[in-house]
Amino acid sequence: MSDWYARLFPLLCRLPAETAHRLALTALEHGLVPTPLRGGDPILRVHAFGRALANPVGLAAGFDKNARVFARMPALGFGFAEVGGVTPLPQPGNRRPRLFRLVEDRALINRMGFNNDGLEVFARRLERHAGDGQFVAANLASNTNSADPAEDFVILARRLAPLVELLVIDVSCPNTANGKMFQRREPLDDLLTRLAAVRGTTPMALKVSPDLTDAEKSDITALALAHRVDGMVVANTTATRPATLRSAHQGERGGLSGPPVREMSRRLLGEVYGMTQGRLTLVGVGGIESGADAYAAIRAGATLVQLYTALVYHGPMLVHRIKAELAYLLRRDGFDDLTQAVGADHGQLAVQGQTA
Ligand SMILES: Cc1cc2nc3c(=O)[nH]c(=O)nc-3n(C[C@H](O)[C@H](O)[C@H](O)COP(=O)(O)O)c2cc1C
Repeated sequence: MSDWYARLFPLLCRLPAETAHRLALTALEHGLVPTPLRGGDPILRVHAFGRALANPVGLAAGFDKNARVFARMPALGFGFAEVGGVTPLPQPGNRRPRLFRLVEDRALINRMGFNNDGLEVFARRLERHAGDGQFVAANLASNTNSADPAEDFVILARRLAPLVELLVIDVSCPNTANGKMFQRREPLDDLLTRLAAVRGTTPMALKVSPDLTDAEKSDITALALAHRVDGMVVANTTATRPATLRSAHQGERGGLSGPPVREMSRRLLGEVYGMTQGRLTLVGVGGIESGADAYAAIRAGATLVQLYTALVYHGPMLVHRIKAELAYLLRRDGFDDLTQAVGADHGQLAVQGQTA
């Protein structure tokens, strides 16, 4: 933990987790978070989803649900930001409390239920981002009480495709009734057919759950390839509770994030990379809190990585630390650039993936 954040963290912990998060957003919005400028290391430059990024470390969905602070993310060192989840209509989400710190595990449990200001407010904020050179992904979700959840995704994709660099279709939310209906083959097939007609040339990725069954994994990856989806974000929070958890809040309902999901996410990342022969651009997310974690995700098949929970426990200076460690590890292992390390743990497959 950097010094100022180490002093602040115990004070933040006295507040309900969601209040602390709101304070963080307000501080970011008003430029109150220290952001010492650091030069970018060329070894971290990466090409993904048709764009050049200064580095592969991104902000995960859920932190900036209403697209309020994404413009501050490059100053924190992030190479890209995923905003949302956004739904077509504004909705309040679940009753509070709905976000819990598991301090001993450096983890969170959330059952937010897609609280957000809705598509129109979100899109108007993103309109200001046009031409600023940032890589912004939008995370799309259906309204909780939607009569036609697939149509919700279509509405969102049509409006947002011209405004962002990547559309992420969240088919993995553990906290709403229809959050996971598109994990099944027929609904997903239909959804991807309908989205192809509205997304234009904007790249699209599916965000998946670490709790998928083997059958769901093969259905989703097969459909992603068949519909020419560009990538997958692996993975969302888990509804499972590893036996290693120590914190009092472990029994709360919702999705668990942070180090306890790291192994699950990384294992799924490797499986998806293998199943898709490196033909999709993968974003590794789940429990990443060090350069070594980011490096392991990249070697397992990720071109980009993301984090959320680690920001809560380590503060925003963590991003620079992760990048410095990652650059060191790449050089230590003889890589000249990051792309060479993508999928390196898969041996021959990695070489095929890069030339495919
Ligand atoms: C409070 C909270 C809200 C989240 N909201 C979303 C969301 O709206 N859409 C989504 O796809 N993922 C959401 N996530 C999941 C994260 O994007 C990420 O996949 C997960 O937390 C694992 O990464 P981490 O361990 O670095 O936090 C949320 C996570 C948290 C903690």
